[in-house]
Amino acid sequence: MRTQVGIVGAGPAGLVLAHLLHRLGIDSVVLENQTREHIERRIRAGVLEHGTVDLLTEIGLAERLHKERMVHHGLELLFDGEGHRIPLTELAGREISIYGQHELVKDLVAARLATGRPLVFSVSDVAVSDRLVEYTVDGRRESLECDIVAGCDGYHGVCRPSIPAGALQVYERDYPYAWLGILARTPPSSEELIYAYHERGFALHSMRSPQITRLYLQVRPDENLDGWPDERIWTELQTRLSRRRGFHLADGPILEKGVTAMRSFVVEPMRFGRLFLAGDAAHIVPPTGAKGLNLAVADVAVLATAIADFYRGDESGLNAYSERCLRRVWRVQHFSWWMTSMLHRPPDGDPFSHRLQLSQLRYVVGSTAAATSLAENYVGLPLDWT
Ligand code: APR
Ligand code: PHB
Repeated sequence: MRTQVGIVGAGPAGLVLAHLLHRLGIDSVVLENQTREHIERRIRAGVLEHGTVDLLTEIGLAERLHKERMVHHGLELLFDGEGHRIPLTELAGREISIYGQHELVKDLVAARLATGRPLVFSVSDVAVSDRLVEYTVDGRRESLECDIVAGCDGYHGVCRPSIPAGALQVYERDYPYAWLGILARTPPSSEELIYAYHERGFALHSMRSPQITRLYLQVRPDENLDGWPDERIWTELQTRLSRRRGFHLADGPILEKGVTAMRSFVVEPMRFGRLFLAGDAAHIVPPTGAKGLNLAVADVAVLATAIADFYRGDESGLNAYSERCLRRVWRVQHFSWWMTSMLHRPPDGDPFSHRLQLSQLRYVVGSTAAATSLAENYVGLPLDWT
């Protein structure tokens, strides 16, 4: 086969890119190694920046999002038994939306299939070399000749590893903790998100709908789920989310639980020849800032425009792609690291760190300037921010 743009990976990055290109009259083939059912059930993040919602709305991908999302105008920082609301919309002028990433993937897959253009599921043995993508599907070995390859295959994909190690600079930081996350069939116990700093560790109260709550606990990086029966999870969450004036965390059937590693990771540049990396294939942020999905969409918004310029004979956008994306990537990396460092108890219980964290939290909730800085980063800097 031959196409203009070969897209490896049908996550948010790959699917939004495919839709942007289709609207620009540029053909693409999307290759996904999982089944459609798998990627539509894969529970991931759930916070959309206003810029992400604006882009999805502009390109006609937000009909169900606007019907089902939960619009939030604030979040709570909880520490020392007291909750402190950060009025996001009042401070930063824009709201955030709660809408499960797997719901967005369903919408994106449906939109792709409606175009009639190729979205190939269950591929295997994908190999990328320059502008050729080879893969196996239904027992047949296929090769796809492209003008451009978009590596949207996430942190564990094959596109980044196909680049010679000497051509990339890797920046990474592992954190000494992980998140144990659960999805529970119970109404949220708070209307907004609660980020809790507690001596026993961080906890986060989020949600997916008026019936589904999403909750996370800081645990050890090598935590074994077997040691966390439902009862223990609910007890620990109730403890970490408690406050002096009382707080009842509604429990219920746990539909899913898992442990997510925490890391910061960036490769530079995000390009090698005609291969362009986007989203988790190029960078990973700790989930505390709820940025992964939004950063992936920001990357492909830049890439789609650059590809359109390329077909008009102007390669400057492609040549500037990596540098332009990395300015936003590093701003988001810093914010995600800052939120993570402020809210997670270091495993060694270092008292100096504890005092610094409390001081930072008190400053953020006590200073309009500090709270505004958190708010503008959390709701999302403009897509064209650099
Ligand atoms: N061949 C084809 N597809 C692949 C391969 C491969 N070798 N390896 C991985 N994939 C697919 C994965 O199954 C997944 O569907 O690529 C897709 C990558 O999607 P994501 O991992 O969701 O990454 P991205 O689209 O960049 O979105 C980033 O998703 O993982 C979350 O937390 C992350 O919210 C962030 C967002
Ligand atoms: C989620 O709802 O999954 C979520 C919310 C906020 C975060 C991370 C995850 O910072």
